[in-house]
Amino acid sequence: MTRPTLNELTAHDAFVQRHIGPSDDETAAMLDALGYDSLSDLTDAAVPRGIRRERPMTLDAPRGEAETLAELAEIAGQNKVVKSLIGQGYYGTVTPGVILRNILENPAWYTAYTPYQPEISQGRLEALLNFQTMVAELTGMDIANASLLDEGTAAAEAMMLVRKLARNKGDQFFVSERCHSQTIEVMRTRAEPMGIEVVVGDEFAGLPAEAFGFLLQYPATRGGVHHYADIVERAHGNDALVVVAADPLALTLLTPPGEWGADVVIGSTQRFGVPFGFGGPHAAYMATKDAHKRSMPGRLVGVSVDAAGRPAYRLALQTREQHIRREKATSNICTAQVLLAVIASMYAVYHGPEGLTRIARRVHRLAAVLAEGVRRLGYELDSDRFFDTVTVKTRDWGATIWETARVEGLNLRLEDDGVAVSLDETCDRATVEKLWTCFRQGSEAELDFDAIEAEVADALPEDLVRTSAFLTHPVFHQHRSETEMLRYLRRLSDKDIALDRAMIPLGSCTMKLNATAEMIPITWPEFANIHPFAPADQTIGYHRLITELERMLAAATGYAAVSVQPNAGSQGEYAGLLVIRAYHRARGEGHRDVCLIPSSAHGTNPASAAMAGMRVVVVACDSHGNVDVDDLRAKAAQHADSLAALMITYPSTHGVFEERVKEICSIVHEHGGQVYTDGANLNALVGLVSLQELGSDVSHMNLHKTFCIPHGGGGPGVGPIGVAEHLVPYLPGHSELDNLETAIGAVSAAPYGSAGILPISWTYIRMMGAEGLTRATRMAILNANYVAKRLEDHYPVLYTGPNGLVAHECIIDLRPIKDSSGVTVDDVAKRLIDFGFHAPTMSFPVAGTLMIEPTESESKVELDRFCDAMIAIREEIRAIENGDVPVEHSALRNAPHTADDLLGSAWDRPYPRRAGAFPAPGMEASKYWPPVSRIDNVYGDRNLVCSCPPIEAYQDAAE
Ligand SMILES: Cc1ncc(COP(=O)(O)O)c(C=O)c1O
Repeated sequence: MTRPTLNELTAHDAFVQRHIGPSDDETAAMLDALGYDSLSDLTDAAVPRGIRRERPMTLDAPRGEAETLAELAEIAGQNKVVKSLIGQGYYGTVTPGVILRNILENPAWYTAYTPYQPEISQGRLEALLNFQTMVAELTGMDIANASLLDEGTAAAEAMMLVRKLARNKGDQFFVSERCHSQTIEVMRTRAEPMGIEVVVGDEFAGLPAEAFGFLLQYPATRGGVHHYADIVERAHGNDALVVVAADPLALTLLTPPGEWGADVVIGSTQRFGVPFGFGGPHAAYMATKDAHKRSMPGRLVGVSVDAAGRPAYRLALQTREQHIRREKATSNICTAQVLLAVIASMYAVYHGPEGLTRIARRVHRLAAVLAEGVRRLGYELDSDRFFDTVTVKTRDWGATIWETARVEGLNLRLEDDGVAVSLDETCDRATVEKLWTCFRQGSEAELDFDAIEAEVADALPEDLVRTSAFLTHPVFHQHRSETEMLRYLRRLSDKDIALDRAMIPLGSCTMKLNATAEMIPITWPEFANIHPFAPADQTIGYHRLITELERMLAAATGYAAVSVQPNAGSQGEYAGLLVIRAYHRARGEGHRDVCLIPSSAHGTNPASAAMAGMRVVVVACDSHGNVDVDDLRAKAAQHADSLAALMITYPSTHGVFEERVKEICSIVHEHGGQVYTDGANLNALVGLVSLQELGSDVSHMNLHKTFCIPHGGGGPGVGPIGVAEHLVPYLPGHSELDNLETAIGAVSAAPYGSAGILPISWTYIRMMGAEGLTRATRMAILNANYVAKRLEDHYPVLYTGPNGLVAHECIIDLRPIKDSSGVTVDDVAKRLIDFGFHAPTMSFPVAGTLMIEPTESESKVELDRFCDAMIAIREEIRAIENGDVPVEHSALRNAPHTADDLLGSAWDRPYPRRAGAFPAPGMEASKYWPPVSRIDNVYGDRNLVCSCPPIEAYQDAAE
């Protein structure tokens, strides 16, 4: 018997087989069903030879889970966790343990998808409704959305909103010099392509008449709490609108902007239990007046009713979104920050209004005591009215104080004329005393904490002290004990289908495994507790991780360099187009502004192009779902003088490897344009195809698709961009980065965007290595083709590529079924819930179809279970086609079935109750019960309610 070597027994590549669902036997059986001998035969047949990558992907060999985590721990150890009192929109916070473990570390929450299928998303929708209620009440506004990406981009979104709404048609937007500097940077980036001039100044020194909008910060970045009611009145007198960036914790003590006239309020909820994460991900928010709700960007959760009249939640007013409005959209937001919004909302549920007020009061008392001590040491303060941030005018001592504090383990903010200190809930008496020592610098004044505490008054302006109640809904009062909180979280997550229950076969969205080993590092303090503007010597580990990840992503795509700054795919698209724009401008061709986009493109593409100041020209697709090359050639020639870019998705959104992609890229280049490839479908390419070799110049990669960052119920995402050599000088800049003058401006508030979750993708790539990643791609193609094969006799598969094969996803066409039976895509999607599945992507890119993407992580057992369900549904449809069951009374139309529906005393439906509940054999023991039946979208949009409904609403429905 040959004895295996120690190295063989160590199995460094063991994770590859954990990540990939099908076993070797299952793989062989699926290949057999498709008529191929090996995985490489199948791949050779599916992926055209002409597009295969020539240069291999160079990555380190795979390492096991434990080895990888040990290596990452060593990298994390190069970061230094120091108490950061830098503020500027990022504050220390305590994530309650019950929230940390049961949300942030719980796959039931983090592996869920955006709640497009509301019946299986009631848990996260309720959490988001809590978020909206919390934000609306804290800000004193009528309505709030379900999160935006960060405070900087939320401010930019607000600028676009008020530009649309304001009667003042000037082209200036005034930004207070009291705003956080990173917000000002992002505003500048976003304003310029839209022809908006950002004027930064002192609002108390006069307001420009040409400004259509104003942005104020409350409290100001240096801590001062100012009266803005007069400014708002004057702005309104000029027909302009006012946006206020507000700190939600301060709003528990201060009169909310809604009570002194603000039109839009934005901000970050990071300090509600979400760690720094070196800049993100964090949930930003936006709240506005009821009159503006139809123009508000981002996701909005609303209350409606289900088929039985029960209150039920779902996404409201979806026609506002880029999916529908495309180049007419004023926002390109798709992925938001749902998981972080859920955490922030639960922080409010956990603490309640009294708890939040107590935290705020305590932080404020500490700041007041700190300020008084500093005054007694002989310093002058920037402002006598503040909440938690004290800016001390330090004369020539600033750098010395800053350095002393750093040595003492405290990060402060160094300003030109002083030092700013932002206190937070992690601070205490010892923090304040240590700060006094740093500021002392030779003073002999005696400082007694207790004595000062007893003497010093609050420093909030008396006429801005909050008097209105907030968080009055019972949900913010009922979960004070940990037991109640734990059970509330469990009750909500039990209502939802996430990857921890079943396959989520969403085409274009790539719901693959988010392995536990990949998730573990994100809550390590060395990654979680680092402020984005911490000194460089404390972030060596992060810089190493980011540099390595950028190199890994460059290897995977073939590009010369990568920037991880964009914090969603949509933001990557926007950044990539700005890079193209900057390149044209640098060559004296700044007039190039036409962006060709195939009709099949995802809505974010045209929306991003419009926001980058480009004109969208739509290119037709042929009957196979491919770009119509003749139309492309004609349009490229027609616009040759002004062609800036083509945006394509590869493989196409139809799930096909277009063979003529290289020709498409050359046509665009011949006419002076650049090629932007949407990398949402990179799952079908890694290891087999290099985007750069195809002729593409720039792409975004959705790390929350191909590279395993979980979808978190609708975000966080990360959308790094990769660029070819000639575009490297234009990658996103940031005042915290020392990149070239040629860089485009900041597209995210933090220099590395949502850095806190980058360890997930780093870990994935490290554990897979080049071979493992390539195998994952091949398996994704196998799984998709297996599903297509099993379903093709039952549903037409809409588009196929070479040899009748699909890429990593397939579209099945339900339009003929609708004609023959009246059964809709919705009916099939909702009936799948009865089988325990999340529906595939509905009606994208073709209305009336379902797009299925199984990913490499699903085993054959799960694929068969799904295919069996789809085939059983086809049989139910046949009964309708045959006239045996009327469609209106069918199980399909009545789906999904709640326990309540099935146990009701009357039963007059033409199918047995059991067929409603257990449509497949063996479901009885592990049945997923939807909490509501089909939700009425139209009712919800007509009767819009976007905050927690009163408890009586549920009682009424029960009666
Ligand atoms: C083809 C395509 N492009 C772009 C996006 C936008 O990505 P994100 O949601 O990360 O903004 C998506 C999202 O699903 C997509 O499917």
